[in-house]
Amino acid sequence: MFAKSKDGTAQGVAKQRLIESLATPDKRIINDPYACEFVFGSGFVKMMGHKFCVWLSQKILPGWHEHLVSRTRFIDELVEESLINETGQYVILGAGYDTRAHRLDIPNLLRVFEVDQPEVQERKRKKLPDELLGNECVVYVPVDFSYQSLSERLIGSGFDSGKPTIITLEGVSQYISKEDFIALVQEVNSLTKNADVTFFVSYIDELFTTNPEECCGVGFEKAGEKFELVRALSAKTGEPWISFYTDTEIQKIFTVNGFTVEETTTLANLNSRYFTPVGRTVPDSQLFNLERFVVAKKSCD
Ligand SMILES: C[S@@+](CC[C@H](N)C(=O)[O-])C[C@H]1O[C@@H](n2cnc3c(N)ncnc32)[C@H](O)[C@@H]1O
Repeated sequence: MFAKSKDGTAQGVAKQRLIESLATPDKRIINDPYACEFVFGSGFVKMMGHKFCVWLSQKILPGWHEHLVSRTRFIDELVEESLINETGQYVILGAGYDTRAHRLDIPNLLRVFEVDQPEVQERKRKKLPDELLGNECVVYVPVDFSYQSLSERLIGSGFDSGKPTIITLEGVSQYISKEDFIALVQEVNSLTKNADVTFFVSYIDELFTTNPEECCGVGFEKAGEKFELVRALSAKTGEPWISFYTDTEIQKIFTVNGFTVEETTTLANLNSRYFTPVGRTVPDSQLFNLERFVVAKKSCD
């Protein structure tokens, strides 16, 4: 049923962005007009429409769609806020089919480094509309975190160690080993000794494997089964979830690398910020706080 093409999970996230973008502007919380380029069967999704797709998603995995699109919105806002504060460059680690470089209002002089496995980047570049492929802001940096050096590739691609930088690792930490994740944070620290950095990371709480109910809203049914369903679907695409973290572990990884964790949030906290204003408050019984969203910062002074 699933081709093991290395981009299955990247397509899965892009599909949720496509579904959300199909809602009318007064009902949606994000708009990604390019997501459809990357999603297999996007015509069918468009035909089914936003309402039906969200309804179906709620039947199968309550809170899944809302979780993913709230993560996108949260990072969109973080990136935009950083750009206003004169951040000089943006690194998207495990970029998949992220289209922020094209969707957000990014100043011409700012470089966006998109980092992902070579095969996924190749497919992305094949699917991107020509006018986006020519976007000179974007630098594609093929790296497999499991055996290639991020620093070497980034420096070789024009990354400036002295510029204020924003880095995002969205929906990726669960797919790479803990050693590779720690090595990434260490590399980022070494790469940016002379710069102010904002670093976004999402991670799956270890609680999900031991006490999944704790990660869901009151009345959420069969949390353990739903969690296993997500794990099984990821594994079927050839991209199994292998790493889970406690809050203490994450704090430690950032602290020893000079960062301060400024914020940790979940869908539960973003519900009233994003969904209530568009009349789509997620009820407690559908709150699936799948990941924690972390913002860590460090300053060079
Ligand atoms: C769930 S997708 C998320 C993509 C994107 N960040 C988003 O939110 O739309 C996970 C991404 O991590 C990338 N990834 C997984 N393992 C990797 C590795 N060892 N090196 C580089 N990228 C990796 C995949 O190729 C994929 O694009």
